[in-house]
Amino acid sequence: MTTNKLALITGITGQDGSYLAEFLLNKNYKVVGLYRRSSTNNFERIKHIKSPNFILEEFDLTDPTGCFHLIDKYKPQEFYNLAAQSHVATSFKQPTTTFEINTIGVVNLLEAIKSNSPATKFYQASTSEMFGRSYSICQETFQKYQDENTPMLPQSPYGIAKLASHNMVQIYRSSYNIFSCSGILFNHESPRRGENFVTRKITKYIGKLLRNETKDKLQLGNLEASRDWGHAKDYIRGMWLMLQNEIPNDYVLCTGQTYTIREFLESAFGYFNLDYNDHIEINPELYRPAEVDFLRGRNDKAKEQLKWWPEINFEDLVKDMLNSDTKNV
Ligand code: NAP
Ligand code: GDD
Repeated sequence: MTTNKLALITGITGQDGSYLAEFLLNKNYKVVGLYRRSSTNNFERIKHIKSPNFILEEFDLTDPTGCFHLIDKYKPQEFYNLAAQSHVATSFKQPTTTFEINTIGVVNLLEAIKSNSPATKFYQASTSEMFGRSYSICQETFQKYQDENTPMLPQSPYGIAKLASHNMVQIYRSSYNIFSCSGILFNHESPRRGENFVTRKITKYIGKLLRNETKDKLQLGNLEASRDWGHAKDYIRGMWLMLQNEIPNDYVLCTGQTYTIREFLESAFGYFNLDYNDHIEINPELYRPAEVDFLRGRNDKAKEQLKWWPEINFEDLVKDMLNSDTKNV
């Protein structure tokens, strides 16, 4: 009789954690979702998951003892570290906490795996934010892009903390033979995206506007930055593929398309024949002390080695988010 594989997921209450749990449960895994205590109920994204193969454990990434005991208790085949202080603007206001969670927290996990369960395969949620202002230029098209070989020049405490943990993952792979991978994921969104990220802030506002729940204008910061936006459902499949590979490695997951925030606004408001200019207001306080101006990934390595590519395009992503946020209109 085959036994179910066991996977631990940190950040289970977040966007990616919830989709990954569904994905692994569909593949017949046993899933232990790790959440941190909060004074209010924040299980909104996972409350619909009803499965005897799904359990929850309390945990905090910044607690080394807890990490140590948890890995020892479960010794899972796969460990997905999706927990983070994931908001770039917040990282300027809380640089120390960001570093404690996004860097020291990852070292806590890697140390626990090295000591207590060295056969565990480890996935780390790295990010295109690590590229910062850096890019490569395609020799044929002269287009700017980022891939696994592009130098990294992060522009935020978040990006720096994630780059430090990204390098740690490589060290544990090369020095201790741990099967540890980092997915360098470009922005990915969904109806479950946190409400203070720009795409969801926009689609949520459109829902309120159409339901006549607001007369205020939508306050936004820099509209000229470009992002390579994909759908979270595609990206969590890529995380899993990395851990099914023969050898551990790091991979960029992205769409290869890039749009400015202004273009996202045009597309989202345009879906309802609205002009975004009538509904937004620029608030200089929402500009960041340093900005990542341009992100467009290249996913050739993931395509070739993992047979991964995104299936949901930009238009369908925007529609999916709008359909969800404009329910009952
Ligand atoms: P998210 O929705 O913000 O979820 C973050 C999760 O981390 C939440 O469950 C949060 O718990 C948990 N968490 C935060 N601090 C913790 C701590 N000290 N101990 C335990 N758990 C903690 O993020 P996401 O969009 O799903 O992203 C998942 C991961 O991918 C993150 O590491 C993010 O940095 C990275 N990433 C995201 C993208 C993207 O575009 N979405 C792109 C590249 C990389 P609470 O619910 O209690 O706050
Ligand atoms: N959040 C936010 N709110 N961003 C705004 C706003 C606003 O009101 N107005 C303009 N922006 C601009 C930001 O300045 C940035 O250039 C862009 O919109 C995207 O911001 P976010 O949606 O907050 O995402 P991010 O690119 O900073 O970070 C996300 O993607 C990273 C991968 O590149 C997060 O998910 C990170 O966790 C992730 O690593």
